[in-house]
Amino acid sequence: MSKVLVLPGDHIGQEITPQAVRVLEAVNSHFELGIELSHGLLGGSAYEHSGDPCPAATLEQARDSDAILLGAVGGPEWDQLDRPLRPEQGLLRIRKELQLFANFRPAIMYPQLAHASSLKAEFVSGLDILIVRELVGGIYFGQPRGFRELDNGEREGYNTYKYSESEIRRIGRVAFEAAQRRGKRLCSVDKANVLEATMLWREIMNELSADYPDVELTHMYVDNAAMQLVMRPKQFDVIVTGNMFGDILSDIGSMLTGSIGMLPSASLDKNNAGMYEPCHGSAPDISGQDKANPLATILSVAMMLRYSLNAPQAAEVIEQAVGLVLESGLRTGDIFTEGDQLVGTQAMGNAVMDALQGLLREQV
Ligand code: IPM
Ligand code: MG
Repeated sequence: MSKVLVLPGDHIGQEITPQAVRVLEAVNSHFELGIELSHGLLGGSAYEHSGDPCPAATLEQARDSDAILLGAVGGPEWDQLDRPLRPEQGLLRIRKELQLFANFRPAIMYPQLAHASSLKAEFVSGLDILIVRELVGGIYFGQPRGFRELDNGEREGYNTYKYSESEIRRIGRVAFEAAQRRGKRLCSVDKANVLEATMLWREIMNELSADYPDVELTHMYVDNAAMQLVMRPKQFDVIVTGNMFGDILSDIGSMLTGSIGMLPSASLDKNNAGMYEPCHGSAPDISGQDKANPLATILSVAMMLRYSLNAPQAAEVIEQAVGLVLESGLRTGDIFTEGDQLVGTQAMGNAVMDALQGLLREQV
């Protein structure tokens, strides 16, 4: 038996998560996976309930689970709160508390969506990149941080960018191993021409590469990497980078594929227990309107089945179902182009369920 905790979060998180849960329940019963679901609160919805965006009860449920499915957190109604009370802090805290240091953000181009990218189809068709982002260190968490008053009475905001050797080594190993399972090319992204933390990053990556002779390691400065990603994205196989650079580059990666509404992610601890979430945010501007694309969350369920629940067959059939739905021309607004059939969140969820049931029937 495996336990999965569902945290819908805020805004469109509340709409897309139920669609992904339906998919998870369908494969659970078909493949008799013995998955037991429970529900919890994170982000703004948790704050409204208990005054804390990452309540102790949620952390307890999370520690007791094999995997977590998260929708999205945040919204303008909580922007005025003190920093520790904001929904995003709930997300950062659960990542840190559970030591989910390895964040996998694939950017895979569905052939059906090649024309939805802002880049020419020839540059992105067949694109398959994996960004491995360090998720619980770097400037996001470095101490000291805060606001202080300078001698001249001016205020100053400050943060600390640091990485220890062991933090670099553990994310490095995960990335080398991921590259071994794929195209065997790893590009480590840093700013070693300026920042000491990333000089050490580069040194450790070089040192690790001796243990992975089958993987070709290259290095790139982050500004160049941003440029190369939009210029010649297919040169990359696996990218490994720190927390902040990974945050930025993964948004670029997502748009290469047409829409951030398509991209799942996995955040794993050292035992491959993890949290699965779409790469996009809570999109308050379209929330409650049945407009959000549920596919990134549905694909996050597939990643969960593959990485944490050891059910690759179930993962595959979900990915196939998504492919069939795209094939049929159904599109939510974010991936819509002229000639497609525009549908809402629920209809998209229904279509995936129909395709999935069809595929499962064939398997019997
Ligand atoms: C992401 C998001 C988060 C991050 C925010 C919501 C704190 O942008 O998961 O990429 O910066 O990590
Ligand atoms: Mg981000």
